[in-house]
Amino acid sequence: MNKKLYNSKRIIILKWILVTITIWSLPAQKQVKGYKIYKEYCSVCHGDEGRGDGFAAKFLDPKPRDFTSGKYKIRSTISLPTDDDINRVITRGIPGTLMPAFKQDLDEQEINSLVAHVKELDITNTFKGKTPTAISFPEPPPETDELLTMGETLYVDNCVACHGSYGQGDGLRSNSLIDDWKDPIRPYDLTGPADRMKGGSNVEEIYQTIYVGMGAAMPAFEKGLSPDQYWALAYYVLSLAESDEDSDDWGEESSETVEGDSDIGKDLVMGVKPFENGGPPCMGCHSVMGEKAITSGGGPWGPDLTIAHQKFKEYGLSIFLETIPFPTMGPLYHPRPLTEEERGHVLAFLISMQQPDEVQVVTAKVLSHYTLTILIGLLGVVLLTLTGLIAGKKNMEFK
Ligand code: HEC
Ligand code: HEC
Ligand code: HEC
Repeated sequence: MNKKLYNSKRIIILKWILVTITIWSLPAQKQVKGYKIYKEYCSVCHGDEGRGDGFAAKFLDPKPRDFTSGKYKIRSTISLPTDDDINRVITRGIPGTLMPAFKQDLDEQEINSLVAHVKELDITNTFKGKTPTAISFPEPPPETDELLTMGETLYVDNCVACHGSYGQGDGLRSNSLIDDWKDPIRPYDLTGPADRMKGGSNVEEIYQTIYVGMGAAMPAFEKGLSPDQYWALAYYVLSLAESDEDSDDWGEESSETVEGDSDIGKDLVMGVKPFENGGPPCMGCHSVMGEKAITSGGGPWGPDLTIAHQKFKEYGLSIFLETIPFPTMGPLYHPRPLTEEERGHVLAFLISMQQPDEVQVVTAKVLSHYTLTILIGLLGVVLLTLTGLIAGKKNMEFK
């Protein structure tokens, strides 16, 4: 009897151990998931450990972010970004750079686990125990001539040294600026298309950018100016931009026309028309809308190119075709670059394919290690309960 009692006690203890392990592993699940997605989508540029040294990094300017230093450029705070800030960067990408928008590839939950993972990569532990909060500012006043004139005066006093008299990013100090990672960086050309600002291009986002700055090279004006002065500057900055539309989604492309013929582009991509310098046809490795190349079979190596434009935007893709930053493609195309004309045609084709509503993006879902642990744990509990019941019954029978 004693022995039997001991047996069932042991089973109960075992059960509790399993339950505890299962519950304990729940929070870790998010991180492991983040790591897997990170490896798949981010490592090529940001590096496995987040040092900004992925394979493609050497082809990129600006360089991919080094996440180990805890320094960020796109923030709604003076020092550390909020989770929302990081989430937004991953979702919408960074215009004018090769940081892609991932809103088509990843869902909300996956992006959140990436936010957690990216913060984990900070070896200086800057985030530890801190919950950064966004700066708050009043509602924007309506744009008036008075505000614009005030903005111009403030611009001349505070910004010309770097951004230049006409805002073209060619001020006296423009050639000697260094960012937080000691790389040279040029001031933004304020006369370019408005929707290419990294921190966002509506008047509130520009207010925020001037208030919090953008790393070592672009100072934070913080409390140095009054809210009115910020609005004046923000409206003035917007007035310098090429397009006068406020865009609250910087992922939207301005409707500039690309010089290139999408039909010729299609022939080049498909391999119907060879590339002048002998580069292989894209469909040798890629598919488009799930279709593989007619001639070479192709397709399975590279990602489907249907949403490439949504992901990298027109500007990102044009840099991409010029630099070919990916490990598999680089060695093939660096010695055999596409000509400028060919790049135009291929770009026109990639853009012509965009049909956001119809395209279904299939993301590989991985059953994470920890999901497995949990399943095995639960299964164990069920089994032990059953064993316990059976043993109990047997005991009764023996009696
Ligand atoms: C094709 C290259 C490339 C890939 C792939 C890429 N990034 Fe980036 N990323 C960049 C570049 C370049 C920058 C820096 C832009 C700059 O400094 O203006 C950057 C910057 C960032 C930033 C910093 C924003 C800030 O405020 O400083 C975050 C966060 C980020 N990337 C997250 C990710 C995540 C997460 C993934 C994977 C889902 C990813 N990136 C994939 C190129 C890439
Ligand atoms: C010491 C030099 C310097 C001064 C002074 C300066 N900037 Fe900048 N600014 C920069 C640099 C460098 C960048 C590019 C930062 C980057 O891309 O990492 C930039 C970027 C910007 C951007 C674009 C940010 C984006 O979202 O891409 C805006 C807007 C801007 N500055 C406005 C201003 C205004 C307005 C003033 C004056 C109140 C000002 N700057 C003063 C150096 C300066
Ligand atoms: C030898 C095979 C190969 C060829 C040929 C090739 N690619 Fe790729 N491409 C890849 C692979 C593999 C990737 C994924 C990144 C990596 O691992 O290098 C990729 C990535 C890409 C991406 C990024 C897609 C994304 O969703 O992240 C684009 C865009 C792209 N290729 C366009 C092209 C174009 C345009 C051509 C023709 C000029 C081309 N590729 C030719 C193999 C190839």
